[in-house]
Amino acid sequence: MASPRTSPTGREVTFAPDEIIVSKTDLRGVITYANDVFLRVAGYTEAEVLGQPHNLIRHPGMPRCVFRLLWDTLQAQREIFAYVVNMTKTGDAYWVFAHVTPSYDLEHRHVGYHSNRRVPYADALPKVKQLYAQLLAEESRHTNPRAACAAGLALLQNQLSQHGTDYDTFVFSLSANTCLEASQA
Ligand SMILES: Cc1cc2nc3c(=O)[nH]c(=O)nc-3n(C[C@H](O)[C@H](O)[C@H](O)COP(=O)(O)O)c2cc1C
Repeated sequence: MASPRTSPTGREVTFAPDEIIVSKTDLRGVITYANDVFLRVAGYTEAEVLGQPHNLIRHPGMPRCVFRLLWDTLQAQREIFAYVVNMTKTGDAYWVFAHVTPSYDLEHRHVGYHSNRRVPYADALPKVKQLYAQLLAEESRHTNPRAACAAGLALLQNQLSQHGTDYDTFVFSLSANTCLEASQA
């Protein structure tokens, strides 16, 4: 978590549509690289993030099951796209559309992970927020974190089945592909 003392402020901050927030991790999700945009938006220095687990910027508004899906996908050596709300050092929220991939060395050994994040599509965000609220509500019915995660995943899977779609198709169906700035113009 951001810090045991940091609580969400309820404020949202954002970044420019032409900026990319980048971080890299080792195989355990420990941060090995963060670009300047990451540091500026999250409000940390490089020294504060390097060597820290990536849940440093976890926001309590994120359902556990989305991270389970992320890790299951990455560990199966596949890439994933996901909407994520993160928390700055001071407790503000910032939404991103993340593309997370496994990284390999020249011998094709799997050495870590890489995430590029852009400003989310504005038309997708209300749908994402509604879905995540449903997943969080489902997860909050369980005190055991594993059970909460399983229940959230089951609900997500159920919704995908009802719409006859899979996760990847669903993520891209959330937007008509207009970026935040363009759709506000
Ligand atoms: C490359 C990479 C990027 C990640 N980016 C984020 C991120 O931006 N925000 C976040 O909360 N978790 C991110 N995670 C997931 C975290 O490692 C972690 O699973 C998540 O914060 C949930 O933490 P928790 O299980 O302690 O609640 C990322 C993981 C990887 C491998």
